[in-house]
Amino acid sequence: MKIVMLGAPGAGKGTYASRLSKRYGIPHISTGDIFRENIKNNTELGQKAKKYMDEGLLVPDELTCDLVMDRISEDDCKKGFILDGFPRTIPQAEALTEALSARGEKMEYALNVVVEDEKIVKRMAGRRSCPNCGAIYHLVTLPPKKEGICDKCGTPLVQRADDKEETVLKRLSIYHEQTEPLIEYYNKQGILHEMSGDADVDKEVLRIAKVLEA
Ligand code: AP5
Repeated sequence: MKIVMLGAPGAGKGTYASRLSKRYGIPHISTGDIFRENIKNNTELGQKAKKYMDEGLLVPDELTCDLVMDRISEDDCKKGFILDGFPRTIPQAEALTEALSARGEKMEYALNVVVEDEKIVKRMAGRRSCPNCGAIYHLVTLPPKKEGICDKCGTPLVQRADDKEETVLKRLSIYHEQTEPLIEYYNKQGILHEMSGDADVDKEVLRIAKVLEA
């Protein structure tokens, strides 16, 4: 099963993608997580990506596209994969379509997670994530069982550097300008489905699973 997650920053793409990844046993590939891991390890890619990410800007396509194409060629992607945060621009989507088509494959589902902008800005202030396993929480709506500690691996949770309000506003404006056109791109391919980014997480995953399994 090949799935691409669409939606604004903070809509809930990562939250849903990690649950769907577990349900279908396919890798959850988040370009944001890959860049953050590279920043943590101070790699050359991390150093280049950091200056864009800290300002809420997109990392240039030339640093992003090959990375994703290499990742989806790995053995664990043979049964499928969930892309979260890629593509983010029409040229990225075209590069992905071409790479899949060269292998005789195509994207099967595009899941667009919808939440209003005003809710997103409030929500980002409460997001906490695990720097070790990537699990995502919210102080109010999805809190960990023990305050400040990851339920899954016991690591102290952190707040992302790009979650301060002015950076979130910048990310939202870039989303509307450069990423939102992807909704129509995948709608034209007849593979677009909407998810509510505001619903009960487990119920919404079950609802979309019925669509994917129909
Ligand atoms: P990335 O990490 O991809 O960030 P993003 O797209 O901005 O999305 P987020 O991870 O912020 O949010 P999300 O939609 O996954 O929401 P989440 O599930 O966490 O990218 C970061 C940066 O990397 C970019 O700005 C860019 O610089 C660079 N980058 C990455 N990919 C790139 C690319 N392809 N090209 C160029 N640059 C790239 O949920 C948010 C919060 O809401 C959480 O607290 C969660 O607990 C809560 N929540 C989720 N669902 C619900 C629900 N149903 N009800 C209540 N609360 C919920």
